[in-house]
Amino acid sequence: MEKTGRNDPCWCGSGKKYKKCHNDFDEKIHAFQLKGAIVPPRKIIKNPVQIEGIRESGKINIAVLDYVAEHIKEGITTEEIDRWVYEQTTRYHAIPAPLNYQGFPKSVCTSVNDQVCHGIPSADVVLKEGDIINVDVSTILNGYFSDSSRMFCIGQVSEEKKRLVQKTKESISVGLKQVKPWGFLGDMGQAIHDFATENGYTVVRQIGGHGIGLEFHEEPWVSYVSERGTEMLMVPGMVFTIEPMINMGSDEVFVDDADGWTVYTEDEQPSAQWEIQVLVTDNGYEILAY
Ligand code: MF3
Ligand code: CO
Repeated sequence: MEKTGRNDPCWCGSGKKYKKCHNDFDEKIHAFQLKGAIVPPRKIIKNPVQIEGIRESGKINIAVLDYVAEHIKEGITTEEIDRWVYEQTTRYHAIPAPLNYQGFPKSVCTSVNDQVCHGIPSADVVLKEGDIINVDVSTILNGYFSDSSRMFCIGQVSEEKKRLVQKTKESISVGLKQVKPWGFLGDMGQAIHDFATENGYTVVRQIGGHGIGLEFHEEPWVSYVSERGTEMLMVPGMVFTIEPMINMGSDEVFVDDADGWTVYTEDEQPSAQWEIQVLVTDNGYEILAY
């Protein structure tokens, strides 16, 4: 880390003097570093202007998911969900982040039943009664990224699947309680893992959440099988997703060879995921997308 003069402009780009901005912050970070903590790099610490930009992006992400929630039903195809997401996002002069992202062909991920995540919308996938589906929306507005996902139950769904969807949603709140400055991401990860296993489920290990804001995927990588007191230190100005994938059966998953994207459970049992995007604040957190 370069040494910034006390009266120099702060490295965060706020325009404020360093001594009035991130000086105390840096001293705290340094103390944690001496204790061996993994501390966040400066480039993932957002300034107020950037936070406002990400907040606005998040509002569109929420509105697009609200639209999906109002219209999703038995008999529609996941291709139609893709069209809604494209139309709604562009209506707000924003861009669907998944479209052409590393070759992803659609504007949204739709993952049904034993599909864990990254399902590709298709005219061949018709939603039927009893299905559970994750719709994962990501938005770029003025260069700022947001990302969140929700589960939907189609018609009458079995009690077993309903419970999986509900408990996965609850796990987000359980994890969220651990999000505060100067705690560790592992505090959150362990809370979610403990909650899921206490309820008889498993947590996908290979795929996690991520920092986000100026890019789609930034540091840190966010695990939900991590341990208390480990992983990156959470500090004010950090933005990341909480998006655990919780399986009814085993935690083993694989990527479909044919499309290179869709992740499935190895045992073909259902998987659920909810995703929120959070900002770590001076005294806790703010939810930027859900
Ligand atoms: N929202 C998903 C995630 O955070 C997006 C995956 S990339 C995509 O992992 F290309 F599949 F959209
Ligand atoms: Co994400």
